[in-house]
Amino acid sequence: MPRPVKRHAPASAPEAPSTRKRAAAPPIEVHASRDMPLGMPPSRFLTQYWQKQPLVVRGALAGWDPPIDPDDLAGLACEDTALARIVRRDRKRSQWTLQRGPYDESTFAALPSHDWTLLVQDVDKWDADVAGLLDFVRFLPTWRIDDVMVSYATDGGGVGPHIDQYDVFLVQGRGQREWAISTDRNAPQGLRVGTDLRLLAEFHPTHRFTLDPGDVLYLPPNVPHDGVAIGESMTFSIGMRAPAESELLLDFAEFLAEQLPETRRYADPDLRPARATGLIDAAALERVRTVLGPLARRLRNVDLAHWFGRMITRYRSAAPISGSGQTPELGQIRDTLASGRAILRHPFARFAWVEHGGDGAALFAAGHMVHCPRALAEALCARARLEADDPLLQDSASLAALRELLAVGCVQFARAPRKRT
Ligand code: SIN
Ligand code: CO
Repeated sequence: MPRPVKRHAPASAPEAPSTRKRAAAPPIEVHASRDMPLGMPPSRFLTQYWQKQPLVVRGALAGWDPPIDPDDLAGLACEDTALARIVRRDRKRSQWTLQRGPYDESTFAALPSHDWTLLVQDVDKWDADVAGLLDFVRFLPTWRIDDVMVSYATDGGGVGPHIDQYDVFLVQGRGQREWAISTDRNAPQGLRVGTDLRLLAEFHPTHRFTLDPGDVLYLPPNVPHDGVAIGESMTFSIGMRAPAESELLLDFAEFLAEQLPETRRYADPDLRPARATGLIDAAALERVRTVLGPLARRLRNVDLAHWFGRMITRYRSAAPISGSGQTPELGQIRDTLASGRAILRHPFARFAWVEHGGDGAALFAAGHMVHCPRALAEALCARARLEADDPLLQDSASLAALRELLAVGCVQFARAPRKRT
């Protein structure tokens, strides 16, 4: 969602009655001129529109002759390494289906004459003339630009209402396309279920524009939009790239880690006798927080604990642990315990736990986390075997945790006791 620019006033300042008029929102549609393909200087575009609000520029690339045609695009979509998708629309049901490439000629021969679109990413890497389109955005840092994606759509074709998480300049290459967009900053962003496409469950357009060849629609990230071809249409989308904060953090953490000598380790010269077996206590978490420094500054205690518990029980595992993947029914577990079969810890699974309100615990086992009563967490950390009639295994919260641990293989049932003859 493009964030409005916040203006800060001192918290104690009284609210002065506003005498100034609010600046009028800049127009959503402008006309390009020969000198100004954006219809304005790039500096104005960046201040008023970039990452803030959509803009239609009429005639931005007037007279531009698209360097590839639909046949070229279909040919490229048949290459093994091309990233191609065909999206078919079912108008009656308002549904869209995705078929990923590569394709062969028979794929295209089987398509109807309407309601589908072919999209190929990274076409600028395959075709130097298509890469020439990037001159249109040369006022942006080149490292912010991802690719030129080209789509060919038959009448009625489109990919359905969606949002993109990056800025995009949609250049109309051939034919016409009707774009519906929503500039409502509170527009719902929930996704439809049951489709491979990330389509919006709800879409209420605030504006509609029909783009002709040479027109450009700029969309900041997270603006709901839907483009439908009017007749045959080709669109060239210049997409931006912006790493997720999670990706930046991960890469930075790896970078930091590479600088650290192996000799720098978690250390606890201040250790006191354990209060409970397997417990990761507050002092341990504080030591971890100190090692992580600025990376952990914003982390809540509970998140730090949940991450560290998973990490430390996965750390230096000598053998992979895999369960059946099937979560047994509670009744099944009760019956098996009733038959006398004990619970065994997987010998390679490490266990630890943290306190989790009242009598609860978050129990970690080989990188997994389950919630359970504190007594069970402590028992599983202390003992490799819990007998079938152990009172700890009677309550339903413990059985629910066991279900999860059995499914991932961190615990298993002992063999059935031999019957005496
Ligand atoms: C298209 O080019 O068909 C779709 C592009 C988009 O909506 O992002
Ligand atoms: Co889009």
